[in-house]
Order: sequence, then structure tokens, then C-alpha cells
Amino acid sequence: MNMFKSLLVPLLAFVGVSALASGEETYKAVCASCHANRVANAPQVGDKAKWAPLIAEGQVILTAHGYVGVRAMPPKGGKPDLSVAGFAEALNYMVNQSGGNWKTPGNTMLKDIEAEIARRQKGKRD
Ligand code: HEC
Repeated sequence: MNMFKSLLVPLLAFVGVSALASGEETYKAVCASCHANRVANAPQVGDKAKWAPLIAEGQVILTAHGYVGVRAMPPKGGKPDLSVAGFAEALNYMVNQSGGNWKTPGNTMLKDIEAEIARRQKGKRD
């Protein structure tokens, strides 16, 4: 598991990190303001009881619905230029700090997430 990271980290240092922030970095920069500060009922990172039913929705559904926004949860975590992959990485980090064991979504799963985002956005407009 860490082999990927040990290859990736020097690569990122080489190409410059800005384009590809890690899930932890995105979480800290974008999500923690609410998900570590008890803002508006946001499920707190580390609160396993709160996260268990969310994790049970599955990675595709939860990532897509979070990306579109749910009640007080802003679309894309409030960062309009956050990509689906970037959002997924940040959520991955949050879930794995909160009792889950998710992996970075591969291309197939990213396609499924994007399809669910499209479905969800359509439902929101109707
Ligand atoms: C402005 C505050 C705020 C920020 C920033 C924010 N969230 Fe949230 N988030 C919330 C709140 C509030 C909820 C609870 C929504 C509810 O159930 O009413 C929530 C819920 C969620 C959920 C559960 C959605 C569901 O289906 O119930 C996910 C997943 C999530 N956030 C992920 C993220 C990620 C990933 C980021 C950063 C990229 C992020 N959030 C940034 C406030 C925020």
C-alpha cells in the first residue's frame, strides 16, 4: 500500500505539488473548517458513530452526493474549482479517519461517481 506513496511523494516533489494536493491537504484546506469545528451539524472527522451510516451508503453514492451538496453541506465543499477526484481524495481521508477503509477511486469508480453526480443534479433541478 505504501509503495505507491513512496513512489508518488518524490514524483510530486519533482513536478510540484500544487496541481495534485493529497486528500489530507485538501481536507485541511477545504473541509476541516466545518468537519473539525462542529459547524452546522457537519459529521466530525473521527466520530465513528456519525460516519458509520454514511460509510454504509458506499463510496460512489456518498462521494457523489457530497460533491453535489446536501442541505448545509455546500457543493464541492464550497470550493468551486475542486475536481471530483480531489473531492473524492479528501472524503477518502475523512472516512479513513472515521472508521472506514476506502481506497482512492480508480477510473472506473470515478466514472460511476460522475454518473451519480449527473443523476443527482438532475433530481435537484426537478
Ligand atoms: C461550510 C461547511 C462545510 C464544508 C467546508 C464542508 N462540509 Fe461536508 N458537510 C457540512 C454539513 C453541515 C454536513 C451535514 C449535512 C446534513 O446532513 O445536513 C456535511 C456533510 C457531508 C457529507 C455527508 C453527505 C451526506 O450524504 O449526508 C460528506 C460526504 C461531506 N460533508 C464531505 C465533505 C468534504 C469531502 C468536504 C471538503 C472537500 C466538505 N464536506 C466540506 C458542511 C461542510
